[in-house]
Amino acid sequence: MSGTQTVTWDTDEIIAKRDKYYAASQRAFIPYKKPLILKRGAMQYVWDEQDNKLIDLLGMNLCISVGHAHPKVVAAVQEQVGQLTHCTTMFYHPVPAHFAEELVATMPAGHDWVVHFTNSGTEAIDLAMMMARASTGNQDMIALRNSYHGATYGAQGLTGVQGFRHNIGQLSNITFAAEPNQYRGAFGPGTQPYLDDLDRTIACSTSGHLAGMIIEPVQGYGGIVEMPEGYIKGAAERVCAHGGLMIIDEVQSGFGKTGQSLWAFDSHDVVPDIVVMAKGIGNGIPLGAVVAKREVAEVMGGKLLFHTYGANPAACAAGRAVLKVIEDDAMIENARVVGAELHKRLRGMMDHFDIIGDVRGTGFMQAIELVKDRETKEPAPKETAFVFERTREHGLVLSKSGNFKNVLRMVPPLCLSMEDVDSVFNAFERSFEDLERRGST
Ligand SMILES: Cc1ncc(COP(=O)(O)O)c(C=O)c1O
Repeated sequence: MSGTQTVTWDTDEIIAKRDKYYAASQRAFIPYKKPLILKRGAMQYVWDEQDNKLIDLLGMNLCISVGHAHPKVVAAVQEQVGQLTHCTTMFYHPVPAHFAEELVATMPAGHDWVVHFTNSGTEAIDLAMMMARASTGNQDMIALRNSYHGATYGAQGLTGVQGFRHNIGQLSNITFAAEPNQYRGAFGPGTQPYLDDLDRTIACSTSGHLAGMIIEPVQGYGGIVEMPEGYIKGAAERVCAHGGLMIIDEVQSGFGKTGQSLWAFDSHDVVPDIVVMAKGIGNGIPLGAVVAKREVAEVMGGKLLFHTYGANPAACAAGRAVLKVIEDDAMIENARVVGAELHKRLRGMMDHFDIIGDVRGTGFMQAIELVKDRETKEPAPKETAFVFERTREHGLVLSKSGNFKNVLRMVPPLCLSMEDVDSVFNAFERSFEDLERRGST
């Protein structure tokens, strides 16, 4: 029972109801052969409807930043919901205002930053693109191949992964440049070849007058592809020279996931014009934000633009609590130290399993890429799907990502501990051994 309304926990009934009542667009996203039904969570762990415990290495698609049902976030939200569940944006409330001030304080000093709260990352991406176009007066946008920026009509147009691009007329004036993937990028390793490609893209596929470029410092759905040193800075210089703005999408990489700093762009010696954030910002409570330089955002003042639940005080109370917990519990440092150990152990598996072509990542953004042959790097999606299913049987939740569906992606909550690393490593070893056994039968 939940209040006065009943909730069924019968496996077959839950599956049947969802299949019957969800639209095809929402039904389609089912990673596991046998649907995963979740009943509860505590910090880095979740339990399914039959009480099996799993380590949530994906933090519910990165939304759970500081831990499932983190007591301090829960308390902050409960208190606010009990006092005033919603305050529409045309009225004033102190909680979103405090949170805006606190977010601004995390941005590079020496600039005047302002915040626009949304309900999701996709909405924030749409707004960022609108801001860039409105404030520069230019239309052309550049995104990277293999990027994911969201699902709405606007954000989908910036997304460079085929599985997310529907067969519809996409937004115009968006061009894609080659992603500087150091493992399997079109121009091999290095930064300069990709900056050269960006020059060619600007010269051949745009008017030369740019609204902006959008970059994930670590491509998430693309399979944990980290921007190499110098790329974002070089790209920002080129885009600026053509009148455009640099938009950094921190929806996945933000809130300390790289174990280096709160924002992944901090490691790239660049000051963005617009930063987009969502997911981990609310530890599971729906919230997104655009943080922009005042001179960029100011142009939008002439017309009304609001998201009904944007600046919702309960969501912003969660956001404030998340920022405080990250700092109080030294969670970025935890991601750095535990992430380094996790990376070392996973990389060690390359000595035993030839199917692993690459293990990459920083902090708590880690990936294992599976290939049929280490020389040709031919992707191994079927083997990846098999290992992926086995990891669940061995107690892990993670994701199958990348354009070829051959990357096992992990971005756990910031509270994953050293003790968990053993369990994670053992689960992976057993899953890859299962693959080898299957291969020999
Ligand atoms: C990098 C990135 N940008 C934007 C989005 C869109 O965010 P949302 O799903 O909250 O709309 C996502 C979602 O996965 C994302 O990973």
